[in-house]
Amino acid sequence: MKNIYNNEKRLLHGGDYNPDQWLDYPDILKDDLRLMKLANVNTMTVGIFAWSALEPTEGNYNFEWLDKIIDDVYNQGGRVILATPSGARPAWLSEKYPEVLRTNDRREKMLHGGRHNHCFSSPIYREKTQKMNYKLAERYGNHPALIMWHVSNEYSGDCHCELCQENFRDWLKNKYKTIENVNKAWWGPFWSHTYTDWSQIESPSSIGENAVHGLNLDWKRFVTDQTIDFYENEAKPLRELTPNVPITTNFMADTDDLIPFQSLNYEKFSKHVDILSWDCYPAWHNDWETTKDLATKVGFINDLYRSLKQQPFLIMECTPSGVNWHNVNKAKRPGMHTLASMQLLAHGSDSVLYFQWRKSRGSSEKFHGAVVDHDNSEENRVFKEVSQVGEILDKIKEIKGSMKQSKVAIIYDWENDWALKDAQGFGKESRRYPQTLQSHYKYFWDKNISVDVVTPQQDLSKYSLVVAPMMYMMTEETMDRFRDYVKNGGVLVGSYLSGLVNETDLTYLGGWPKTLQEIYGIDVKEIDTLYPKDRNSIKFGNESFEVVDYCTIIEAKEAEVLAKYEEDFYKNTPAITKNNLEKGKAYFIGARTNQEFLSKFYDKIVKDLDINEVEDFISECGISIQIRENEDAKYYFVMNFTEEEKNIEIKGSYIDLILGKEAEILNIMKPYGVYVLKKNK
Ligand code: GAL
Repeated sequence: MKNIYNNEKRLLHGGDYNPDQWLDYPDILKDDLRLMKLANVNTMTVGIFAWSALEPTEGNYNFEWLDKIIDDVYNQGGRVILATPSGARPAWLSEKYPEVLRTNDRREKMLHGGRHNHCFSSPIYREKTQKMNYKLAERYGNHPALIMWHVSNEYSGDCHCELCQENFRDWLKNKYKTIENVNKAWWGPFWSHTYTDWSQIESPSSIGENAVHGLNLDWKRFVTDQTIDFYENEAKPLRELTPNVPITTNFMADTDDLIPFQSLNYEKFSKHVDILSWDCYPAWHNDWETTKDLATKVGFINDLYRSLKQQPFLIMECTPSGVNWHNVNKAKRPGMHTLASMQLLAHGSDSVLYFQWRKSRGSSEKFHGAVVDHDNSEENRVFKEVSQVGEILDKIKEIKGSMKQSKVAIIYDWENDWALKDAQGFGKESRRYPQTLQSHYKYFWDKNISVDVVTPQQDLSKYSLVVAPMMYMMTEETMDRFRDYVKNGGVLVGSYLSGLVNETDLTYLGGWPKTLQEIYGIDVKEIDTLYPKDRNSIKFGNESFEVVDYCTIIEAKEAEVLAKYEEDFYKNTPAITKNNLEKGKAYFIGARTNQEFLSKFYDKIVKDLDINEVEDFISECGISIQIRENEDAKYYFVMNFTEEEKNIEIKGSYIDLILGKEAEILNIMKPYGVYVLKKNK
C-alpha cells in the first residue's frame, strides 16, 4: 500500500462530509468541528458532489472554502479523503456541452438532472473531469491531511449514444478482428442475425436487438472496460502528481439481498484501485428475515470484496441509522450500529465511514440517517452510538492491516452471473445464482469457518476446499484450473447448471465437457427444471432430503454415488456424487437441496479436512465468530446477531480489547453484543 495511507495508524472513522451544502451557514460549519471531536471521528471524505461549488461557472474556480475545511479538519487531528467531483455535473456543463448527457437503450437523450449519468465516452466530459482533477492534485496533493483519493462516486450505468456505439464497435474489432468471427461467436445465422459490416452492430436495446446473448455479454464487458477507461482518465493526474496517495472508488452491492453489484465486473475494476472500498447498506431489522440471516449476507459480500484484492478494504459508506431508499427505512435499534460496524471490521474492513456526516436540510436525502441530525445535538441517540463506535475503534486499532486466513473458498463469477441471468430456459425466477452461493456460505458462517469469496481467475492452491456451484458459463481454462486444483489435492464442490456454455455463451457440443467428466467422474445427461411447487427428494445416508427447482440426471462413471433421487422417472439414479482424482476429491451436487442437507453434507467434508478455527469457543446459535490475524496475534470478533441473550464459553486466555482486561470464561452476551478478543501468537 502506498505510503501516505500506511502512515495512518488509526482505523478510519468518519465519512462523507458535504460542507458545500452549508456554505451559507457559518455557525453550522463551526459546530461541525466541535461535533467531530465529540463523535470520535478522524476522517472526512470531502468534495464528492462539489463541482458547482468548485467551478461555479466554466473556468472560474473557487477552492477557498475547501482550503479552509481541509485545514480545519487537519488542525484538529483529522485526515481527509478527497473526492473528484465527477459523480454529478454542474448545470452549465450540460447546457453548454449536451454531448455529456447520457443516451438510454431506447436511444433517448436524457435531460440534465440527478447524478451518476454521464456519457463515459464524451471527450468533453473526459477533458473537463481531468482538468478538475489536475487542479485538485496540484492544490491539495501535498496537504498533510490528504490520505487518499476517492475518484468520482459509485460508477454505474451505460450510455448508448453514437460515440459509445463507435467505441463499442472498436472494442469488438479489437477482440474479434473480423466480422465473420463476430458472427461465429454470437451464432449469427440464428434468425438471420448475420452482420456484413461493423456499422450494423448496435448495443442491445429494448426496442432493438436484445436476443443475441453473445452481444449482450460483450456489451456488459465493454461497459466495464469503458467505465474503467473513464476512471483511469480521471486518475491520470492523481497518479502523475501524487504517486504516494492511494486511489479508490466506492463499489456497491445490489438489492436488499446484498448480492454483488450486477452491472460492472468488479473483479476487473479491482485491479485498478489501490485499495478497494465499498458502500454497505443492509436492511437491518427487516420483516422478511432474521438478523442472523441478514448478517450472513453481509458477511458474504464483505468476504467477496476483501478477497478481490486479498487485502483489507474500506467501508466507504454505511449509515449510522436508517437510509432513505429502502421500501421501509427503519432506524437501527440501540446496539445494532456498534454490532454492524464490528462485523464490517471482522470481515476485513479497516474503516467505518458514513454517508453522511450531517443530514442535508433539503432535497432527496434530507431524511437519510447521518451522524449529526437536524437537531444538531450531541445528545442524540444515534450521535452517541457513533461516538461509542469511535471509542471502540480507537481501542482496537491494532487490528488495522490484519487479514483473514481462510481455508475455504467459494467461487463467484460476474460473467457467469450475467450469462445465467440472460439465458432463456430453466426457471425464470429460480436461477438465483448469487443467492445459492449465499446459502452454501451460510453453512460456514454458522460454523465460524472463515471463507474467501474468490473469482475463478484467482489462485486456488491455498484453499483446502473450493465450492463452485452453478458455473453455467465456464471457460475451458477454468475447467483445467479446477482439474489441476483437484489433482494437486484440493477438494472441489460443484453443482447442477454447470459447464453448459463457453465464454461467448455458445453451448458445449458432444455432451458434458470432458474435463468436467474427468473431474467429477460422472456424465450429465439432462437437467430437469421443476415448477415452484414441485418436490423431489434424495436419500443421503439414512435420511431423505427435499430437493427443488433443479435436478440433474447423472450417469456415474468413476464416481461413488452418495445420494439417489427418490421420485420421478429418474428415481434411484445418482443425485450426489464423489470422485477421487489423484490427490484430491470432487463432489457434485446434482439437485437444489435445502440448508439441512448442506449442513450434513459439509459437516463430513469439514471433519475430513479437520477445519476448526474456534476450538476455544463454545457458543450458541446466532453468535458469529470471525478472525483476523497478523504476525503477532489473532483477533476474534464474537458477535451476537440475535435479539436474545446468548451463552458463550471461552477456554484459554484472551484479552478483551474493548474492556481492556482478561476475558471471562463464561459469558452471557447481550442481544447485539460484541467482544473483540486478542490472543497472542
Ligand atoms: C450511496 C451514495 C451516497 C448516498 C447514499 C445514500 O449510494 O454514494 O451519495 O446517496 O447512497 O444511501
